[in-house]
Amino acid sequence: MKIHNNYNLSKLNTFGISVNAEFFIEIENENELNELLSTLEFKNNKKLFLGGGSNVLFTKDFDGMVILNKLKGIEILTDDAESMVIRCMSGEIWHDLVIFTVERGLWGIENLSLIPGTVGAAPMQNIGAYGAELTNVLENVEAFDISTGEKRIFNTEECKLGYRDSVFKNKLKDKYFISAITLRLSKKIKKNLAYKALTEYLAKNKIEVSNSKDVSDAVADIRRSKLPDPKVIGNAGSFFKNVFVEKPELKKLQEKYPLMPHFEEGGVVKIPAGWLIEQCGWKGKRVGNVGVHDRQALVLVNHGGAKGGEVLDLANKIIADVKEKFGLELVPEVNLIR
Ligand code: EPU
Repeated sequence: MKIHNNYNLSKLNTFGISVNAEFFIEIENENELNELLSTLEFKNNKKLFLGGGSNVLFTKDFDGMVILNKLKGIEILTDDAESMVIRCMSGEIWHDLVIFTVERGLWGIENLSLIPGTVGAAPMQNIGAYGAELTNVLENVEAFDISTGEKRIFNTEECKLGYRDSVFKNKLKDKYFISAITLRLSKKIKKNLAYKALTEYLAKNKIEVSNSKDVSDAVADIRRSKLPDPKVIGNAGSFFKNVFVEKPELKKLQEKYPLMPHFEEGGVVKIPAGWLIEQCGWKGKRVGNVGVHDRQALVLVNHGGAKGGEVLDLANKIIADVKEKFGLELVPEVNLIR
């Protein structure tokens, strides 16, 4: 375990922003984590745990300690006729876990294929895509209290998962380090194909889904066609969350914007932020080194050499325009590191 000084983070965040961390360390197992928690450098500094770096925007150098999570391992805890329970360490790549499950014919996270980032980030923001959410398969989350080093197991309810949200982003923000998650996946066929983009893709390509790998491949293909590859162009996936309104508010908006897409979800209505941004004329626009992706307006991109502040300025302009035109408040989904 070695503590580095002034460590450059450009390869460790998918936006590709070049900033330095005052202290930097990699941890490979729970023992190293415990060792780290007792060091003065850890105790006396601001800290940031980093996984795949796919949901952060560094707005300036980080004047504290960045800890890179490299905890690895996937194990099958139980295996019966109905399901398999799988425990996965938080530093594994999320998509590797998806592959592990679809190769074993399991159902539950195939719609979440190719979501960038590590397993530890999954419960943090209750990852969701193509009609599936982590909450549907999560059994528990193991996490260390970073001030005492004590390990605690959170059941799904205690994680308070919501839309891109959990207790780890709210009440317990910066208090726990997630070390592992456990999922229960189905051996019985459980197709979840109702999401519009997925239904259309399967019909268009005449795909008859017979196993979870078929779904995983389809989702991966859709994502590749719509979302920019961070290896080619820096980005952090959806920069903003979608907007939720009550039904009366939707009615008012529809009087002015009859073509506004909307999706009912649990009593409230989701309005795609991508559409709002597109209507404000931002889709595909470039401002200096930053811009809005041309196939998915929710994604902000670094065309090369961007500073975090430039991305933030662009985000703020978009927020202001959407507010002015629609009276709706866009909220970043990406974790802004200041
Ligand atoms: N739309 C537009 N213009 C755009 C983009 C979207 O008009 O530029 C409208 C379309 O009407 C479309 C609707 O938005 O029907 C929904 O678009 P899409 O299916 O692409 O999904 P999204 O709501 O924009 C969410 C997630 C994505 C996830 C997709 C697919 C959030 C913030 N984003 O986007 O997650 O992949 O659904 O399930 O909830 C991520 O979190 O990084 C991410 C990419």
